[in-house]
Amino acid sequence: MSGDIPKVELKRLAAEKAVEYVESGMVLGLGTGSTAVFMVRAIGRLLANGRLQNIIAIPTSEATAREAEKWNIPLTTLDVHPVIDVTIDGADEIAPDLGLIKGLGGALLREKITAVSSKKLIIISDDSKVVQHLGEKAPIPVEVIPFARQPVYAYLQSLGAKVIEREGFITDENNIILDCHFGKIDDPYSLAEKIRQQPGVVEHGLFLNMAATAVIASKDGELNLYERNFRN
Ligand code: A5P
Repeated sequence: MSGDIPKVELKRLAAEKAVEYVESGMVLGLGTGSTAVFMVRAIGRLLANGRLQNIIAIPTSEATAREAEKWNIPLTTLDVHPVIDVTIDGADEIAPDLGLIKGLGGALLREKITAVSSKKLIIISDDSKVVQHLGEKAPIPVEVIPFARQPVYAYLQSLGAKVIEREGFITDENNIILDCHFGKIDDPYSLAEKIRQQPGVVEHGLFLNMAATAVIASKDGELNLYERNFRN
């Protein structure tokens, strides 16, 4: 038995490291999931002890909104604050170019809208999410309007996916999720484009060219930072 640190602790370490990027006065995007919840709590504590001030935040899900409210983090909307300074969020797979699969928590639509509205997207994770090629471990979640379930299902199958509807799950925007198991994806950009072509697809969980930084905790608790300078 090795002395590996429990995964939940690695998530907390990564989340708390990423919070160091947050400065007073910022508009923040708050991600969703079991890693992001540690980030929300850390921000809540920094606001409570006065080390952070004048933060206003946009949650990427109703669940995150409820957690932020518990910690008295002031919330806003993209209508009022269309530009976010920093969003911190988790991921389900992280490739070497910081391409991501997200959405196993079901919040991919608001997460992607928030990501593209952000000057900087920081991903937090333990190293079990790191892959060489997207699709190695995780399916691509695809958010679909319920009316289009069958045609979209068939279309995604025709692209080579084993498609599994997430049973009993309805997103914050009242849509369904089809989890698409493609296996290792050779060209995520081309696949992303193809998935979007079918009417009824609202959004998919490939987040390409979006993350600027990843804070990843390795099994021994060491924190690794990966930076990507793709935005001018
Ligand atoms: C939520 O929809 C997802 O995109 C999450 O960010 C992702 O599933 C990571 O979640 P965990 O931090 O719980 O692994």
